[in-house]
Amino acid sequence: MHIEVRGLKKQFGDFQAVNDVSFEIEKGHLIGLLGPSGGGKTSILRMLAGLESPSSGDIIFHGKRVNDLPPQERGIGFVFQNYALFKHMTVYDNVSFGLKVKGQSKEFIRERVMSLVELTGLKGFEHRYPHQLSGGQRQRVAFARALAPEPQLLLLDEPFAAIDAKIRTELRTWLKDMIERVGITSIFVTHDQEEAIEVADEIMIINKGRLEQKGSPWEIYKNPQTQFVASFIGESTIVENIERLKGFEEAANWPGTQALIRPEYIEIGKLSEFRLPSATFQGTVKHLHFRGSEWMVEVQVGDIKLITYRSLEKDVLQPGDEVTVLIHRAYLFNDSDTWIMENRLKVDPMPIHI
Ligand SMILES: Nc1ncnc2c1ncn2[C@@H]1O[C@H](COP(=O)(O)OP(=O)(O)OP(=O)(O)O)[C@@H](O)[C@H]1O
Ligand SMILES: [Mg+2]
Repeated sequence: MHIEVRGLKKQFGDFQAVNDVSFEIEKGHLIGLLGPSGGGKTSILRMLAGLESPSSGDIIFHGKRVNDLPPQERGIGFVFQNYALFKHMTVYDNVSFGLKVKGQSKEFIRERVMSLVELTGLKGFEHRYPHQLSGGQRQRVAFARALAPEPQLLLLDEPFAAIDAKIRTELRTWLKDMIERVGITSIFVTHDQEEAIEVADEIMIINKGRLEQKGSPWEIYKNPQTQFVASFIGESTIVENIERLKGFEEAANWPGTQALIRPEYIEIGKLSEFRLPSATFQGTVKHLHFRGSEWMVEVQVGDIKLITYRSLEKDVLQPGDEVTVLIHRAYLFNDSDTWIMENRLKVDPMPIHI
């Protein structure tokens, strides 16, 4: 289903929970809705589902305005974070629930439920009750139940929030694969940027009721359009006075008020390791965190604390070590724009002709 949302607003009393949100979703795409708590993600899903009515704006499915259509006529499947299975019903009855409501024949129901049970890897569990299943299995039942009536849009509101980290990683890979196989347009809410980046075709970042940015995970990472997006996606250091750092003196003349530096834009090491020592400066290692595949290193330069990564292949650093630091580039922001600033001193020297 192709989805279009125009100027969507939701007001609770005098609080603006969703503020002028517009977007389009291509048929079959999986969208990750990402943002901090209270940003308005659930409110957006509830309005799409018809469980809440917008204060203003249009919701358009397949070119047809559905604002006044009741939830059961919108062709939507919903999966919540807290399973919300019917406790007194078996897996089979949970999955068949929506089909019974629709008045489908017994044979039709049996065929559809068994194919979904198979698809979701729950074969052999049809006669179990929810309390006899693990969290991950319950969420798969919830997923099968949402898909049973063949919805055209699937809404998943933090479906794995209550599941521990390892199973969660498995489940999200499973979910992506499943959604691709079924080919259904889906919106997936999460707090977890890693989860969104891994699963979604496109990400929408919602903050304080507004859509900050929409794009592929890579686009958003590479070209964050607001300071909020840049600091939300990936780890980074916010610097107030970047003009004090070598190579970025010109930032004093830019309209940006703050700068953001990603860990991968910073190199640290011995002075002799740098090809362009003129662009470097000295810093002190403050903390080291082992992250499994690399070190995360905090380096103090004057009153600025920078975060970077260091490969396990290189010499192990200790807190207190003096290191040479090279910053390749930074993002500069003001209220409405973002610029990428390259280190001015990093340009290669002219070749020497003999
Ligand atoms: N029925 C309601 N009445 C009043 N305020 C509400 C209501 N529903 C939501 N809100 C408020 O609207 C804002 C957005 O809530 P929403 O549940 O959409 O956020 P969210 O992005 O889903 O947050 P979370 O990540 O914590 O689930 C919050 O400040 C919330 O308190
Ligand atoms: Mg929510």
